[in-house]
Amino acid sequence: MMKMSRRNLLRGCSAAAMTLAVDPSLAVAQTVLPDAFIEQLIARMSLEEKAGQLSIYSDPLRFEGAQINPKTAEQSAKQLHASILKGELTGLFNGVGASSARDLQKLAVEQSPHKIPLIFAGDIIHGMKTIFPIPVGEAASFNPTLAERTARAAAMEASAKGLHWTFAPMVDVARDERWGRVSEGAGEDPYLGAQMARARVKGFQGRNLRDEDTVLACPKHFAAYGGVEGGRDYNTVDIPDTTLRATFLPPFEAAFRQGALTTMSSFNDIAGVPATGNAYLLTDILRGEWGFKGLVVSDYTSEEEMILHGYAADGPDAVVKALSAGCDISMQSGLYYKHIPDLVRQGRLPLRVVDEAVRRVLRVKQAIGLFDNPYRSMDPKREASDIRRPETVALAREAARKSIVLLKNEQDLLPLKKSASVALIGPAIHDKADLPGPWAVFPDVERHVTFAEGFRSALGAQGRLFTARGADYEARLPGGVEQALAAAQSAEVIVLVVGESSEMSGEAQSRTDIGVPAPQLELAEALAKLAKPMVVLLRHGRALALTGAVRDAPAIMATWFLGSETGNAVADLVFGDFAPEARLPVSFPQVSGQEPYFYDHRNTGRPQLTDDKAYKSRYREVTNEALYPFGHGLSYSKVRYSATAVSEAGPSPALRAKGSVRVSAQVENLGARPCVEVAQLYIRQLTASVTQPVRQLKGFQRLSLAPGETRRVEFTIDAEMLAFPHPDHRTYAEPSAILAVIGPSAASGEPVKLAF
Ligand code: BGC
Repeated sequence: MMKMSRRNLLRGCSAAAMTLAVDPSLAVAQTVLPDAFIEQLIARMSLEEKAGQLSIYSDPLRFEGAQINPKTAEQSAKQLHASILKGELTGLFNGVGASSARDLQKLAVEQSPHKIPLIFAGDIIHGMKTIFPIPVGEAASFNPTLAERTARAAAMEASAKGLHWTFAPMVDVARDERWGRVSEGAGEDPYLGAQMARARVKGFQGRNLRDEDTVLACPKHFAAYGGVEGGRDYNTVDIPDTTLRATFLPPFEAAFRQGALTTMSSFNDIAGVPATGNAYLLTDILRGEWGFKGLVVSDYTSEEEMILHGYAADGPDAVVKALSAGCDISMQSGLYYKHIPDLVRQGRLPLRVVDEAVRRVLRVKQAIGLFDNPYRSMDPKREASDIRRPETVALAREAARKSIVLLKNEQDLLPLKKSASVALIGPAIHDKADLPGPWAVFPDVERHVTFAEGFRSALGAQGRLFTARGADYEARLPGGVEQALAAAQSAEVIVLVVGESSEMSGEAQSRTDIGVPAPQLELAEALAKLAKPMVVLLRHGRALALTGAVRDAPAIMATWFLGSETGNAVADLVFGDFAPEARLPVSFPQVSGQEPYFYDHRNTGRPQLTDDKAYKSRYREVTNEALYPFGHGLSYSKVRYSATAVSEAGPSPALRAKGSVRVSAQVENLGARPCVEVAQLYIRQLTASVTQPVRQLKGFQRLSLAPGETRRVEFTIDAEMLAFPHPDHRTYAEPSAILAVIGPSAASGEPVKLAF
C-alpha cells in the first residue's frame, strides 16, 4: 500500500490555503491546508471506520470526576482498545491525563488501519483544576477581557491534561430563572451573551489552533435551549423564527465569527423539530447563512432521544434524520456506529452524507494539527508545570472578585473594618466541595479557599471571627440556629452566607420556587431578630427571589459560585481591599411567579405605566418591576448620571441621513472612593413591523472614576444596531422613532428621542 505522508502530500498541493473561519478579517483565522490528504483518506476508509469517526464516548477508563451524565452501557478497556485498533473511534471525552492520552493515541496512530489520531474532549466550562466563577457569575463582570483571560487559563490547564476540545462556552441565552442551566451561560441578554461568547472562544482557541496550549471551543447548545417552556430542563421550545434570531442566535453567530469550529446540538425541540434533527438550524442557518465549516456534535444521546420526542421511529431512523440534518458526530448513544454501515448498504442513507460528515471531522482534526503532531497537548512535563500556576490562581481570585455584585448597601454598611468582630454563618462557610458550583468536572477541591478561611486571613490582628453553619442547605441542623445565635451574639456584625447549594442549579435542576431554601430562611429570620447589622452573601446559580430577612438585610451581595478562590475574593470585597464592580446579567424578580422574567420584553397593548391598575398587564400581588434589574450593581461610591443627550447640536437628528449618531451622558462619582462604573446603552424602537422590546442593551463601557471625577461617556448608534429579524428570515432596520438611554441598569436613565 502506498505510504502517504502528510508532508509529501502537502508538497504536491497548491499553496492556496483555505480558511474555515467565516469572517476572513478575524484575528483567529483557522487556516486549513488543501484537503487532498483528507479526500484520499476518505476514499480508503471502510464504512465501519467512517461510522467510528462519527462516534464519541465518555471515557470509561480515565474519568476522575463525579457522575455528570446518565449512565449508559460503557465499554471495557478491552473493547475500547479494540475499537481504537480498528480505527473505529473518533475520540473520547471527560477522561484526563497526558500520559494515558499518549498511550491511547499511540495505538491509534501506530496500529490502526489509517492512523487517524483520536481527539480528546472535555467539559471545561469554567476551569479545569483551577476553577473560575460559574459563567453567569463571570458574565456579571461585564468584562469580556476578563472572560477571555479565564478561558485562556482554562485552556492552558485543559491542554496540559491531554485535552484538545472543550464543550464550552455554553452560550444559551436564559429566559427563565427556573431553568437550572442559567448558571452555565451569560444570562438573559443576547448582546452581553454575544460579547462573552466571543471572548470565551478567543480565550480557548488562542492565537492559533495548532498551538499546544489551545483547545477547540464548542459553543453550545445549538439552539434556543434557554427558551425551554416553564424553565423545565430539556423541555419544548415554541418560539417564532424572529425570536429565535433576535434572542437566541446572536451569541452563536458571534462565536462562529470568532472562529469556533465546532458546536453541539441541543436537547430541546423547536416548534416540534428536535434541534439534533433540525436541518433548518444545522444546515440552512449554520452552514448556509453563516458559512460555518466546522462540525456539529450531538448532545449526550440527543439523537437517540429523538425517538422519545416522537420525531424518529427507531435507532436507524434517528441516525438518518440526525446525520441528514447536519449533525456530524453522535455523542454516547453509539447509534451512528451501530447503524451507519447497514443504512448505507441498504440505500437508506446516501454515502455522500456520511462522507461529508467524516470530511468535517477530519478537517477539524487537521485544523488543530493532529495529523502532523498527534501527541499535541500530551506532554507530561506540562501536565506537572501548567496546573494551578500561581498566576492562574491569582486570576481565579481576580475573576471571583470582579464577579460579585453588590445589590444593596444601606448606610454604607460595607465594607467592614478588619478590626471588626464578625459572625460568619451559613451552611457553606466551611464547605470546600461546594465552592466550584454545578459544572466543574475536575476541580482540585482540597485547595479551594472556603469563606471561613478567606475571612480568617483577611481579618486584622484585632479582628475576631465566630463561625457557625446554622442550617444545612435544604434541611435544619439540630441545634444549628442556637449555635448561630450564640456566634452572632458575640460579634458586632453578622455575615450570613445563604442560598443554593451547587446541586440546586445546573443540568436537570429546574426549580418552581427560586427562593432561598426554607431552613436557611428560618436561620435568617432568627438572626435578624438580634437587630445587629447583617450582611447577606448570596450563593446561587441563577437569579433568586428574595424574601423576608434575607431580602430586608441592609447589605446584600450576589456571589454566585465563585470557584477555587471564593473565600479570598469575598473577603477582598467585604473588608474593602477591593470595591465591587460587577452588574447583574439576570434580573432578580420579586417573586418566582414572575418568571419567565427578562428586561427586554415587549410592551403589550395594556402596559401598566401609571398607578392605574385597571385592565393592565400585571399581577395582583406584585408590580412588574424586578427587585434588582438587569445591569444593576453598586460600588462603594455613589454615581450620578446626567440625562442622555445627542452629542452633536441640532434638533432630533435624523440617524438615517447621517448613518450614525453619537449619544452621551455625564457620569459623576459623588463619593469619596474611586469606583468602576459600567455605563450601559439601551435603545427602544418605538414603532416597527415586528414590535420591539421596551429596552435592548446595545453597548456598555467600563469607566474608572476617581472621587469627585466626572466623565462623559459616548456611544455611536447606527443602522446595524437597529436592525431586527423579520418574518422573511432577513435582518434589517426600519424607519422609526427611537429612544436611546445611557444609565446604570435596564431600569434607569433618562432617554433621548432620535429619528431613524
Ligand atoms: C450536557 C452537555 C455536556 C455533555 C457531555 C450533556 O448532558 O448537556 O452540556 O457537554 O453532557 O458531558
